[in-house]
Amino acid sequence: FVSIINQLIYLLQSEVLGFTSAFFCQCRKNILQFLDAERDVSVVKSNFKPGDVIHYVLDRRRTLNISQDLHSLLPEVSPMKNRRFKTCAVVGNSGILLKSGCGKEIDSHDFIIRCNLAPVVEFAADVGTKSDFITMNPSVVQRAFGGFRNESDREKFVRRLSMLNDSVLWIPAFMVKGGEKHVDVFPSPHLVLYEFLMHFFFLCSYWLTNKVRIKRPSTGLLMYTLATRFCDEIHLYGFWPFPKDLHGKPVKYHYYDDLKYRYFSNASPHRMPLEFKTLYVLHSRGALKLTTGKCI
Ligand code: CTP
Repeated sequence: FVSIINQLIYLLQSEVLGFTSAFFCQCRKNILQFLDAERDVSVVKSNFKPGDVIHYVLDRRRTLNISQDLHSLLPEVSPMKNRRFKTCAVVGNSGILLKSGCGKEIDSHDFIIRCNLAPVVEFAADVGTKSDFITMNPSVVQRAFGGFRNESDREKFVRRLSMLNDSVLWIPAFMVKGGEKHVDVFPSPHLVLYEFLMHFFFLCSYWLTNKVRIKRPSTGLLMYTLATRFCDEIHLYGFWPFPKDLHGKPVKYHYYDDLKYRYFSNASPHRMPLEFKTLYVLHSRGALKLTTGKCI
């Protein structure tokens, strides 16, 4: 960890990098061999019919019956069909965003992707408020909204959803049993559900082919990968899976809660420090722009 940080101190402080379009195009082409995010970002109605039985992606022994109700929630076509943007922001949830003053810069991008329904209003100066695409792991209902055990949790959740406006709400609903449980309560007209199995393996293959031995891509890495399909420039904020910053000051795991760092043990599902190193290499080659300091 210390050696990664030392290398990064040198590199992040010394480099001012622009986008190298040739390298970025190469990355996009490589990723496209494995998945096409425009098409694969969501299951659509024609993928299933009511009554179909599917296996959960990470627990193949368990199955789910596609009900009429669930089927009716699926979009007819991919919400990302024919969409293309000049600049995109992918906003991770690291505490490195606190006091960054990056809110305005983040909101100035053409398309803004956020993760796990992270709150924004109270942190607007540092994280901005706009969002065009927001993910929600089903576990967030438990973690941030008390599993809807009481009315105030549910109200908080509805308030957060009401701010989404036209944003795509992306839920990996078929990963483990129960992931699809709350999807019918979402009023978003842009709800999309992610089936994930093939794409998950394709994505892992892509990163493995590039010698990045991720176990399971984090939401942030997945969003970067999807964004290569529809964004000309990708700017990452809030990616910093380390408990200290470059000056040795403590950094919260999330900018908005007190969750602790979990990603250093082998039992963890993600390899975020390794992912970060990889994203940093892409940054230094001009394929993306990683902001880990203050925005001027
Ligand atoms: N992230 C990061 N450093 C942190 C926290 C988060 O780089 N200290 C990035 C990761 O790519 C992560 C994304 O921000 O996937 C969103 O954060 P979070 O909601 O915390 O994701 P997790 O629930 O921790 O992991 P996941 O949803 O990917 O299972």
